[in-house]
Amino acid sequence: MSVDLQNLENIPRHVALIMDGNGRWAQEHGLSRIEGHKEGAQSVRSVLRAAARAGIEYLTVYAFSTENWKRPPQEVDGLMKLLINSLNSYEQELHDNKIRLRVMGQFERLPLPVRMRLQKTIDATADYTDHTFIVALSYGSRTEIADAARRIAEKAKAGKLDPKKIDEQTVADHLYLPDVPDPELMIRTSGELRLSNFLLWQLSYSEFYITETYWPDFREEHFFKALEAYNARDRRYGGVR
Ligand code: FPP
Repeated sequence: MSVDLQNLENIPRHVALIMDGNGRWAQEHGLSRIEGHKEGAQSVRSVLRAAARAGIEYLTVYAFSTENWKRPPQEVDGLMKLLINSLNSYEQELHDNKIRLRVMGQFERLPLPVRMRLQKTIDATADYTDHTFIVALSYGSRTEIADAARRIAEKAKAGKLDPKKIDEQTVADHLYLPDVPDPELMIRTSGELRLSNFLLWQLSYSEFYITETYWPDFREEHFFKALEAYNARDRRYGGVR
């Protein structure tokens, strides 16, 4: 049965997504891994539209982890090319729905043509405030936290920050995108029960929704099902109700 968005009382402000299962989907269809990623890019477009329709402000997708650099060069190269092609095909979607593109991760580690293509759309959508699409690229949460620790230490050493005053907010303020609220919901496809170094700090109180569906099969109706499941949860943040 399809989900009626009107019936959902609690729409999360921020949804984070671990898009897993492209390789297994490809294998089951007798296709190459990159074909799986290509079909996965179609799912990204479908979910991007669905999230905007549902009124979600921030959608963060884990597109390439720091660990993914260890994959065979052919696959890494294929993913980088796919990123460029995908941005070309999402461009209209972003403008039609007033979605701002942002990137989190080690931007400078990405190949120059990828950085240039990303920057073009980041600049072209910079003034949109309704929705934000965050692509985690060459992203690793432990690296993000270590980078934050280093910058805090540098400020303390320079006398710009009192070490006694370092608290949770100080750490949060030094992460890659400090202005973005923590995700209320994290969705992982293909059934794995792991965080895989994704938003370890930001997901501390998030609800997790794990589905067996492979990412290339995950489309709008699956996304709405996840929102429905989120609506049925009772969030207590460690308190009682
Ligand atoms: C995990 O599947 C998926 C990735 C490492 C890449 C995700 C990338 C995309 C969906 C393509 C484009 C994205 C954007 C934002 C344009 P896997 O290869 O680990 O699957 P497996 O575990 O079944 O092998």
